[in-house]
Amino acid sequence: MKSLLLLLLVMATGFKHIISSTIPTTKFDLDNGLCLSWRLAVEANNMEPWPTVPTACLIYVKSYMLRGQYNRDVEMVVDQIYEFLSSIVAKDDDKDAWILDVDDTCISNIIYYQRKRFGCDPYDPQGFKSWAMKGACPAIPQILGVYKTLIESGFKVFLITGRDELLLGPSTTMNLFMQGFVGHEQLMMRNSTHKGQSATIFKSGIRKQLVEEGYRIHGNIGDQWSDLRGECSGTRTFKLPNPMYFVP
Ligand SMILES: *[C@@H]1O[C@H](CO)[C@@H](O)[C@H](O)[C@H]1NC(C)=O
Ligand SMILES: [Mg+2]
Repeated sequence: MKSLLLLLLVMATGFKHIISSTIPTTKFDLDNGLCLSWRLAVEANNMEPWPTVPTACLIYVKSYMLRGQYNRDVEMVVDQIYEFLSSIVAKDDDKDAWILDVDDTCISNIIYYQRKRFGCDPYDPQGFKSWAMKGACPAIPQILGVYKTLIESGFKVFLITGRDELLLGPSTTMNLFMQGFVGHEQLMMRNSTHKGQSATIFKSGIRKQLVEEGYRIHGNIGDQWSDLRGECSGTRTFKLPNPMYFVP
């Protein structure tokens, strides 16, 4: 009885103290949800440009990505995509298009980012290239479902990625094929003519080119704001969650 009372006392008074003394004394402690505020600000693009995940949010972002909330957030977006899709019909002139980004839209880099402390480590271009050359990114299943529905419904799907065509063309093509992304109109990658361009400039340039060719861009799906901003962004844009990195 005495020890129970003691336990209750510790829980009432000491527990909070024990927790707060074991986590970093930055403003990003778990107690007051500042990592959640940080993630919301990142997703709303209020933090642009942000270099890395704050170290104090490593555990938060790791559990967000691995323990179900990321998947639920993707599913929430995908529900909206299907809702919108049910309101549009592709004509038979083959000009109804959708744009999809590749990295962390069609295929996932979570395995790679686990080694990079979920984005707490700075961007490592060489490390990412080595990973991408393996062609081992798994499909994001909900987006694969959307992709297949789009193609079955007669839409032309264009995949636009900032990955370098010369270096990563074969591995990216193979990776997408092996993961079930079969039937898109074109995979458009960064080549020598786009060197030095930001993702927004590069991607909106390609979309503009498609619109000039007569395509009607209905939807545009990406995990980065730079996938969705700029000219010819599409009738609807769909932002997938990504608290691990920012692409300008
Ligand atoms: C680069 O990509 C653009 C758009 O996809 C294409 O029009 C152009 O021909 C390509 N240039 C080279 C050098 O491959
Ligand atoms: Mg991406």
